[in-house]
Amino acid sequence: MKTIFMLGLVLPCIALAQQPSKVTPQQFVNLQEGDIVHKGFRRAHAKGICISGEFLSNGSLTKYTHAKVFEKGSTPFIGRFSIAGSNPSAPDLKAPVRSMALSFATSATQQWRVAMNTPPVMAVSDPHTFYQQIIAIKAGPEAIQKFFKDHPESQDFLNWKSSYQPSGSFAAETYNSINAFYLINEQDEKQAVRWHMRPTLTATPEGLKGEDALQQELQQRLAKEDIVFDWVYTLATEADNENDPARAWPNSRQQITAGQLVIRDWQFQLKGECHSINYDPLVLPEGIEPTADPILRARSGAYAESYRRRAREVLNGALEANSNE
Ligand code: HEM
Repeated sequence: MKTIFMLGLVLPCIALAQQPSKVTPQQFVNLQEGDIVHKGFRRAHAKGICISGEFLSNGSLTKYTHAKVFEKGSTPFIGRFSIAGSNPSAPDLKAPVRSMALSFATSATQQWRVAMNTPPVMAVSDPHTFYQQIIAIKAGPEAIQKFFKDHPESQDFLNWKSSYQPSGSFAAETYNSINAFYLINEQDEKQAVRWHMRPTLTATPEGLKGEDALQQELQQRLAKEDIVFDWVYTLATEADNENDPARAWPNSRQQITAGQLVIRDWQFQLKGECHSINYDPLVLPEGIEPTADPILRARSGAYAESYRRRAREVLNGALEANSNE
């Protein structure tokens, strides 16, 4: 008994000291979910709200991609606004990152899942260093300051962070792909791109209060009006490394607005369709391909592991008591 107790204390220390050179999806999700497991919920971005509407494409990307979503016309989506973190009851206004996820299904086989965050870049370039960054975040302010000092590649992220002012609405944030992808056209030519959702809302409420302030603001806004974003694509040049999500691309790069994302409705996440969707960034339609960015592979594996855990817990009845979250 005594030996088992001792081992329990020693093993986590060994795990921290010998950080794996290749982080597995299980290790990521163990670290992200932490000591208090919220059964049935996502292990990251656990607090969210389902949204739905349509993307109105203006056809201006068809020169670069034959993805059906970008033909001139409308495609419905099921999406989700969320805040970063593993607590499904966390206060909305304290989260450092806000997010938007989208799922398009143009046919039974052509699906596209998109998950975007408010920063335009990551602080790090590879999964192993991201794992160390999460350890530092969990260890507290001194550890994360030291982490940034030891990782000069964080500079573009820190520049964004120092100028970022959170708004009073999910509808007024800019959401970024961060990772780059290739657009593929009919001639099989490829163009590396990043994208962002640019809000059309300029003024937002101030003095919001309450744990669910952003969700309530969204519900009240959608009762009065649709929420509209411009979907803006940035084209890389040969000077940009599309495999490095920590490096910002210069502002001078060509940008193309592909159309407008129109959000018309919302649902509580446990009652809505978004809860059972895995917004894996490697679920891509024809006409869009992943770059070699290693973070994309790590994301795909971790989202699947988180999804597997929460789906099994839901089957076992974990969420029956709280259907209004
Ligand atoms: C190695 C890096 C990353 C890891 C390990 C990771 C891990 C995770 C996990 C485990 C989930 C929960 C998935 C689920 O249960 O459905 C999640 C959700 C999410 N992640 Fe990441 N993530 C990473 C990087 C990123 C980046 C770069 C972005 C932004 C571009 C991002 C945006 C999101 C969003 C928006 C969600 C919530 C999606 C939803 O509403 O279901 N993540 N992440």
